[in-house]
Order: sequence, then structure tokens, then C-alpha cells
Amino acid sequence: MRNILVTGGAGFIGSNFVRYMLEKYPDYRIVVYDKLTYAGRLENLQDVAERFRGRYTFVQGDICDASQVNAVMKEHRIDAVVNFAAESHVDRSLMEPGSFIQTDVYGTYVLLEAAKEHGVERYHQVSTDEVYGEILEGRATETYPLHTRSPYSASKAGGDLMCLAYYHSFDLPVTITRGSNNIGPYQYPEKVVPLFITNAIDDIPLPLYGDGSQMRDYQYVLDHCEGIDVVLHKGKPGEIYNLGTGVETRNIDMARMILDLLGKPHSLIQPVRDRPGHDRRYALDIRKVQALGWRSRHTFEEALEKTVRWYVENEWWWRPIKSGEFYQDYYRRQYAGRELT
Ligand code: NAD
Ligand code: DAU
Repeated sequence: MRNILVTGGAGFIGSNFVRYMLEKYPDYRIVVYDKLTYAGRLENLQDVAERFRGRYTFVQGDICDASQVNAVMKEHRIDAVVNFAAESHVDRSLMEPGSFIQTDVYGTYVLLEAAKEHGVERYHQVSTDEVYGEILEGRATETYPLHTRSPYSASKAGGDLMCLAYYHSFDLPVTITRGSNNIGPYQYPEKVVPLFITNAIDDIPLPLYGDGSQMRDYQYVLDHCEGIDVVLHKGKPGEIYNLGTGVETRNIDMARMILDLLGKPHSLIQPVRDRPGHDRRYALDIRKVQALGWRSRHTFEEALEKTVRWYVENEWWWRPIKSGEFYQDYYRRQYAGRELT
């Protein structure tokens, strides 16, 4: 494996993965293929383009465009595909599900078809713990039934099932990872942790959905990247691996910890009307990937502390996003008039 196509590599996790892989494997070449939607940003890869000239190539394109995908795979003699490309925000999937179905399901099919055509050594699909739906008790193993409840999670499950179909029907060497909530550098500030950190820095209320008792397994993005690397190299074709810390935190506690780290008052927490179909808890059984030798290196506290510090030190990255009309319009549509008290 030398030439890797990273689709969606200009997004949050994808850009962290590209940097991690180029640092770790001096003989790998990476081609990032990304549509550059609102969530994909060349700024996320600015340092990569400078540091890894010769081993890193960027191509702007849509994973739904079969002819461009095939041309890129042929031109760069791609050995492996790692697919991060997706519409990824649950709240947006409630507003406009169509683009989620298009990219997360149809786009995955286009990539699988091209991967089959070019005989790649590995196709890896980056998926999510959300496909299991809410887990009120216990933990989801990889064989747990799919109980998707949002257009986002239903689309991701569709992509996963198509991957497995290509493994069983065409012997395509596919692996899938289902990760829990990532936090860290370059996460678009619509997701809860960067939204709360950047609002708190500016003394803007933190819109907490419902009673804030929902739980998520927040993992540091580089731990997730390392887990994907382990599965890419050691995972068995046709298999699914959960990636998370195995520890869940309530949203209200996460919000209070952010405020404490920034020295801001808890009174900034503003309860707002809950997300429709809000999954109360995700919880993963991670024993299968642990057997491959992976475990997350950061506790939630460590991950959150590093993340807060990055946003404090990198206002150049998030201020232009938050002050732009695209973001402001989303924020109004999403939060205006939603306060509960
Ligand atoms: P993101 O929204 O930050 O990035 C998505 C990237 O995909 C962007 O660069 C965007 O431009 C690109 N993209 C979107 N549509 C495309 C298309 N049609 N063609 C080409 N590129 C396209 O998302 P993220 O948070 O980095 O998530 C990456 C992947 O990981 C997604 O598949 C997501 O479902 C999965 N995931 C995310 C998390 C999380 O906590 N963020 C957890 C588990 C799994
Ligand atoms: O679990 C993995 C998933 O994590 C990924 O597949 C998704 O791509 C990613 O967006 C994330 O989904 P969530 O819905 O869990 O993340 P989000 O940051 O949107 O919300 C996390 C929790 O915080 C959730 O319980 C809803 C709550 N929340 C969110 C927002 C945006 C709030 O209380 N207020 C908010 O303003």
C-alpha cells in the first residue's frame, strides 16, 4: 500500500488523518479528493501542503462524479481508498436530507464501484456509532442491529450496507470503522464542542438541547485516526470495528467542563428545545479493535483540554467561519426563538 486516496480529506477528521499518515509513513503518497463543501476547507491542510510537497496532492471533486473518481484513481495508481467524504451534521440532515442521501449513500456506491474496477488492495469506510441508534443500556457490539433515527444515521447505515454488499458480492476487500464523537483541531463550529468553546470565548450562550442528560463518547480525533490506521493495516476484509473510548459523558457535564477550562460562568448555559429524534446515549463495545492492539490514548478530560487550547490559540481559523453570512444564516435558522427559559 503506497498510494492512498483520502476522500473528504479536507474536512475535520480527514485532514487530521492525512497529516497523521504522512508523518507516520514516509513512503506513502496521499491524494485528497474533496468537493470542498462548507465543511471542507483548504486551510485545514495548509501546513500539509507545505510540509509534504511531492507526497501530497489535492484534487477538488465530488465522490458522486464517477468519471472524475475513476480518472483520479487511474492517474494516481491508487492502492487503497479511505472514505471520509460525507454530509456529517445531524441537525442539517433534519433540515435538508437530500444531500446526505446523495453523498453518504450514492457517493459511497460510486467509490465502491471505482474501487472494484481498479482492483484496490483495500477500501475503508469511515462510519459512525450513530448507525446503532440510541443505546439506553449496555453497549453495541459490531453485530448489534441497526436502529437509525436521523436522516444522517440512516444515510451512513446505507453506505455501510453497500460496502458489505461489495465485499460479499464482488470480493472487494472492504473494512468499516464505526467511530464515536470526535473532538480536536479543525472541527467546524456547528458541532457541539467547538460551538460551545467558541461561544464561551465570546460570552455567547451555549445552546444545550433539552435537559442536557444525553450522553456521548467523546474521543480525541488523533486517537480515532490511529484506530483507522490500525484497521486499515491489520483489520480483516469484510469486518466492522467500533472505535471509541468506552466512556460516556453527559452533555451538561461537558458544557460545564468547557466553561471551567475557560474560566467562564455556568450561567452561560442556555437550555433550548431538544433536537427531534435526539438519541439519548451512544455506547460502544470496543473489545474487537482492542484485540488488534488499539486503544485510545486520551481520556475525555485530556482530549477536551487540548481541544479548548487549540481553539483559544487558533482564532484565525474559526473567526472567519463564524462571522460569515453562511454560518450566521445557519445559526439563526437553527437556534433563533428556541430558548426554553
Ligand atoms: P466534515 O463534515 O468535517 O468533513 C466532511 C468532508 O467531506 C468535507 O471536507 C467535505 O467537503 C467533504 N465532502 C462532502 N460531500 C462530498 C462529496 N460529495 N464529494 C467529496 N467530498 C465531499 O466531517 P467529519 O466530522 O470530518 O467526518 C468525516 C467522516 O467521519 C464522515 O464520514 C462522518 O460520518 C464520520 N464520522 C464522524 C464523526 C465525528 O464525530 N465527527 C464520528 C464518527 C464518524
Ligand atoms: O457519534 C458520532 C457522530 O457524532 C458523528 O457520526 C457525527 O458526524 C457527528 O456530528 C456527531 O454527531 P452528534 O449528533 O452526536 O454530534 P453533535 O455535536 O451535533 O451533538 C453532540 C451532542 O450535543 C448531542 O447529544 C446533541 C447535543 N447538542 C448539539 C448541538 C449542536 C447540544 O446540546 N446543543 C447543540 O447546539
